[in-house]
Amino acid sequence: MTKIALVTGGTRGIGASISSNLKDSGYTVIANYASNDESAENFSKENNIEVMKWDVSNYEQTKSCISEIYNKYSSIDILINNAGITQDAPLHKMTVEKWNKVISVNLNSVFNVTSSVINKMRENGFGRIINISSVNGQKGQFGQTNYAATKSALIGFTKSLALESASKGITSNVICPGYINTEMVAAIREDILKSIIDTIPSKRLGEANEIAEMVSYLVSEKASYINGATFSVNGGLWMD
Ligand code: CAA
Repeated sequence: MTKIALVTGGTRGIGASISSNLKDSGYTVIANYASNDESAENFSKENNIEVMKWDVSNYEQTKSCISEIYNKYSSIDILINNAGITQDAPLHKMTVEKWNKVISVNLNSVFNVTSSVINKMRENGFGRIINISSVNGQKGQFGQTNYAATKSALIGFTKSLALESASKGITSNVICPGYINTEMVAAIREDILKSIIDTIPSKRLGEANEIAEMVSYLVSEKASYINGATFSVNGGLWMD
C-alpha cells in the first residue's frame, strides 16, 4: 500500500513543491491549506492532489480534520509541518497581535498537528516527521523576533520528539531553508532583499524544489538512520 503524506501549508510556496515532489515519488498526498481557496483549487487540479482546508493553529479544528483523514485513509505515515507566516517588525514596533499570530501559526500548529498523528504512528511502528524551520531560526534576523523564535523552537521540538519516538520506528528531522524564491520572500522590500542576496555566498535565492528534494530523501527508507538532525539548505548563508 502506498504511504500517506500530510503536508501543512502544502498548496503554495515550498509546501506546494514538497507536495508535488512527494506525489511524484509515489506517495498519496494530502495538502492542507488555510485560506487561499483559488490557489488551492488550481494546485489540486494541476497536480491531482487532494487539498484540505483548515487552520492548523486551531487545536479543535486540527483534531477533527485529522480524524476525517483517518476515516478515509488507514494511516498518516509522513507529516511535513511546513505551514508558516511572517509578520515582520523590530521588537520596538512589534504588536502583541503580530507576536501571537506568528507563534500560533508557526509553532502551536506543530503541536496541534503532530500530537494528533503521533499515537497512530507509534502504534504502526513507522513515521516520518519533518519540520520546516528557517535559517533565521538559526542566525536570527532583524525584524523577526517572533518568526525566529518559532523557527528556533522547531529545532528543539524536533530533537525532543526524535528522542521520544526513535524506538517506535519514527524519525523526526528539521530542515532550515534559506531565502527561497517564493511569495513570502518576494514580499520583502526590494532594496532589503537585494542586500540580503548580496550576503548569500551562492548569490541567488534557493528554489522550492531544492527543499523538496531534501524532504523526499528524508522520508524514504534510505534515511531510516537519520534522526533528530538539522539540515541547512541556504546557499552558504549560515553554516551550522
Ligand atoms: N540590521 C541592522 N539595522 C537594520 C537592518 C538590519 N538588517 N535592517 C534595517 N535596519 C535599520 C535601518 O537601517 C533603519 O535605521 P535608521 O532608522 O537608523 O535609518 C532602521 O533599522 C529601520 O529600518 P526599516 O526602514 O527597514 O524599518 P521598518 O520598520 O520599515 O522595516 C522590517 C522593518 C519590516 C523588519 C524590514 O527591515 C524588513 O523587511 N527586513 C527584512 C526582514 C526579513 O528578512 N524577513 C524575511 C522574510 S522571508 C522569511 O522569513 C523566509 C525565511 O525563512 C528566510
